[in-house]
Order: sequence, then C-alpha cells, then structure tokens
Amino acid sequence: MENNDLIEKLTKRNNLSDDELKSILETNKYDESLRINADKIRREIYGDKVFVRGLIEFSNYCKNNCYYCGIRRDNKNTIRYRLTKEQILNCCDEGYNLGFRTFVLQSGEDLFYTDEVICDIISEIRNKYQECAITLSIGEKSKKSYQSYFEAGANRYLLRHETSSQEHYSKLHPREMSLENRKKCLFNLKEIGYQVGSGFMVGSPFQTTENIIEDLRFLQELKPDMIGIGPYITHKETPFANSNNGSVELTLRLLSILRLLFPKVLLPSTTALGTLHPQGRELGLKAGANVLMPNLSPVDVRKKYNIYDNKICTGEEAAQCRNCLERRVLSAGYKIVTDRGDVKK
Ligand code: 5AD
Ligand code: FES
Repeated sequence: MENNDLIEKLTKRNNLSDDELKSILETNKYDESLRINADKIRREIYGDKVFVRGLIEFSNYCKNNCYYCGIRRDNKNTIRYRLTKEQILNCCDEGYNLGFRTFVLQSGEDLFYTDEVICDIISEIRNKYQECAITLSIGEKSKKSYQSYFEAGANRYLLRHETSSQEHYSKLHPREMSLENRKKCLFNLKEIGYQVGSGFMVGSPFQTTENIIEDLRFLQELKPDMIGIGPYITHKETPFANSNNGSVELTLRLLSILRLLFPKVLLPSTTALGTLHPQGRELGLKAGANVLMPNLSPVDVRKKYNIYDNKICTGEEAAQCRNCLERRVLSAGYKIVTDRGDVKK
C-alpha cells in the first residue's frame, strides 16, 4: 500500500501490520497528512486544550546506572542534591498560584526517601490541595510500596518502559536491571488503580524500527493513560557519550502515530523535543501532543537534574517558563487550561 493509504487506514483505527507500521516509520518524505489527521482526532477529543503538569525534580541521586542517563550512579561529575519536604511544598504552592493542578514528583531512585518519607510528603500535598492530582515518577518499587503511596494520596505514576525488546534493553541497562521487573511494576501500578504513564526514547542507541514497533505493541497491551516519548539526547558523562541524538522528525511522526493508535491518551510534548529544536514543543503539540510538563523545581537546582546535555529551561529564563509556555502554546494554535487534565474515558 501507498503511505497515504496507510495513513488513511491508521486514522480509521484499522490495525496496521508490523510491515505497514514499518513503512510509515521509515518513509523519508514528510507526511503532513499524518500530522493533520492526528491533530483532527486530538481536537475532536480534547479541543484546543493543553494540560500542564508542574514537574518537581526533587532529587538527582540515583542507585541505578542506565547507560544513557546523565544522573546515573557512576557519573561522579554531577553535583547531587535533595529537596526537603518544605522545599517541595513551596514548589507546589508556587505551582498552584501559577495555575497548575497536577504536581509531578520525579527523582532518581534515591533510597534516602524511604516509603515513610514519600508517604509523608504525599499526604501533606494531598491535604493541602485536595483538587489536585499527584503524580509520582520515582522508579521501580515493590507493589507494597506503590500501594502505600496510593493510599497516602498519589493518583498517577510515570514509569517509561524505555524499550520492550529484551535484547535492546540489555544494551541500554546494566545486568542488575531487568525488563521483566519494569513491566511487572507497570502492571502492578495499574492493578492498584493508578493512572499509568509509560513510554520510551526515540533514537536511543541500538534502537531499530522493529524495536519501536515492539514498543507500540507493548503499549497496546498495557493500555496506559499517558505515553511519554522524547528524542534520546546524548550526555557526555555517560558510556554513550559518542552516540547520536534521536531524530526530531521521527519523534513528531511517532507522536502522530500514537495519537491515532490511542486517540484519548495523554501525550506530552517533551522538554527533550524542545531541547533539540527551538520550536520542538510547539511542533509536538501540532503533531498530536496535548500535555506540557514545565519545570517547577527551584531555579538553583535545575541545572543539576541533567539527564541529558543542553536541557532547556535551566538558566536565567527558568522562572519565566509559565509565561513563555503560554505564548508558545497560543502561537501553535492551542490554549493552556487550569485543570487536573484527567484522561477522557
Ligand atoms: N535523553 C533523552 N531522554 C532521556 N531519559 C533518560 N536519559 C535520557 C537521555 N539521555 C528519559 C528516560 C526516563 C525519563 C525520565 O527521561 O526515558 O524515563
Ligand atoms: Fe521554560 Fe520557555 S518554557 S523558558
């Protein structure tokens, strides 16, 4: 089939075969029709609304050693920091006043924050901001731990699967980590009742088109509420220092494909996309994304949460993100709303 027919088929929600997906993913001509169809569906479901999440990166300590990540344990050149409960609550206060109704608490896998500490932080936020959603993004934990955070008041959890190919997974992670456990965590989170987000990097080292297709198939099995994808970006203090960045164009194409495969899904236009292209986040919205996750962390720690090189919104301009985003979203033809931004069921 011609690509145009494939896009038509995808838009009509007819399942594409692996070969058909491969043909759309590997085309070298820019398909405006793919983007237009994705945007049409996005507007049918979410109108021109863009949901925002205030991201609080509360610790960059990590016990893991993922080969692609700048805050991996073995990077001795990064300055480590931890925020106190009070600092985290201050971020929430500031975020609330700026119109954020979802707070995302993200960190490396930092055992300093025991379940008790995490639950205490969650309960305080929950008490103070009953109408807000609390999202955690703190990695792989036991089902019991996930359960305790949920009971303390967390509603959502982000854990990208990173790649759903066993072989590819082992090229990106040291032996002590396993894809099996990661997938187990995702299913545990769903069972407990969290709204779950997963996803992967586009163009991570050794990734093939077949791997991406496997990622799409895994997502079809998991049925997450949110899917986070962004281009892989090299970090010079990692074993992948000499690898290439992922492609902006392929990321945009994948955002459109995801919107067509999962019409109702929450799809962020990521900071990584904005890092590789000055209008990356706007292009992401136009390709089908409907969520932005600006940073709410205190300005003085932002540069330290350096999972990849040249991350945007970490300098002098950082305090202005809310206004900057407002303008960018309008210029792309959408508008930011003050809303929890739950998934449409
Ligand atoms: N480039 C792009 N994204 C990265 N992540 C980690 N390292 C990088 C990198 N070098 C992504 C992972 C992780 C999320 C928080 O950031 O997918 O799940
Ligand atoms: Fe952060 Fe533009 S969004 S400065």
